[in-house]
Amino acid sequence: MLNVTGLRVAYGQSEVLHGLDFAVAPGEIVAIMGRNGMGKTTLMKALMGILPVKSGAVSVGDADVTTKKSFERVADGLAYVPQGRMIFSTMTVEENIETGLTVTGRKTVPGDIYGCFPCCST
Ligand SMILES: Nc1ncnc2c1ncn2[C@@H]1O[C@H](COP(=O)(O)OP(=O)(O)O)[C@@H](O)[C@H]1O
Ligand SMILES: [Mg+2]
Repeated sequence: MLNVTGLRVAYGQSEVLHGLDFAVAPGEIVAIMGRNGMGKTTLMKALMGILPVKSGAVSVGDADVTTKKSFERVADGLAYVPQGRMIFSTMTVEENIETGLTVTGRKTVPGDIYGCFPCCST
C-alpha cells in the first residue's frame, strides 16, 4: 500500500535520512520510533511532500508520488493526521474532520464519528 525505497532527505548539506526502506501492507499498522532528532518528523514531511527527497522513491499503491505536490498525494490516497496543535485552529472540530472527507469521497462526516464526542452528539 505504501512503499518507501532508498529514501534520502537532507537539509542542505546535512543528510538526515540515509536511504530508508520500508513497506506498509493494507491493514497493517507501522510505528516509526526513534529518539529525539532521529528524523521521524523529517520522514513525515517528506512523505507529505513538504520536503523534497534527494533520492529514493515513495509510492502509494501503484502511484509513484515521489515528486508530486502534497495535494496530488492526497488524491492518491495519502493522508496525514497531525497531533497536538497542528490543526486548523480557526476552524471548528467538525470543520477539521471535514477536511479529511476529500479522500473518502463522502460529502458528510460519518455519523459514528460523533460518538467520539458525546458532549456534542446529535
Ligand atoms: N529545518 C531544518 N534545518 C536543518 N536541520 C533540521 C531541520 N529540521 C530538522 N533538522 C535536523 O534534522 C534531524 C532530524 O530532525 P527531526 O526529523 O525533527 O527528528 P525527530 O522528529 O525524530 O525528533 C535533527 O538533527 C534536526 O536537528
Ligand atoms: Mg519530531
